[in-house]
Amino acid sequence: MQYTEKVMQHFMHPHNVGVIENPDGYGKVGNPSCGDIMEIFIKVEDNIIKDVKFRTFGCASAIASSSISTDMIIGKTVDEALKLTNKQVVDELGGLPAVKMHCSVLAEEAIKMAIEDYISKRDGKKAQ
Ligand code: FES
Ligand code: FES
Repeated sequence: MQYTEKVMQHFMHPHNVGVIENPDGYGKVGNPSCGDIMEIFIKVEDNIIKDVKFRTFGCASAIASSSISTDMIIGKTVDEALKLTNKQVVDELGGLPAVKMHCSVLAEEAIKMAIEDYISKRDGKKAQ
């Protein structure tokens, strides 16, 4: 299977690349078998994801998946963003080659980790 037009667009012009200083949540995942790393930074206000940035050493599929999945969660509530699935991301891209599916999982996992980091900080603060 070839890359879809949408994958190519997001790979060549990825959205939300970069870092956020003092993020409200941070997630970093790596695939130990290949050394690919994905980092996600989020800003949250009033329970809404206001901004997301990503940085990765992954391949074209990882870049396209992070670009589109960060777009998909901006403006969502924290709970809605947590429900984002890898399948939704791949569907939105119009599909990925089967051998590249694992790359798209990096974005999903890093987003979940960043949101969980935010939630644990938020609830930790409340408890004090
Ligand atoms: Fe390594 Fe895709 S992120 S091959
Ligand atoms: Fe590393 Fe695909 S080869 S995630």
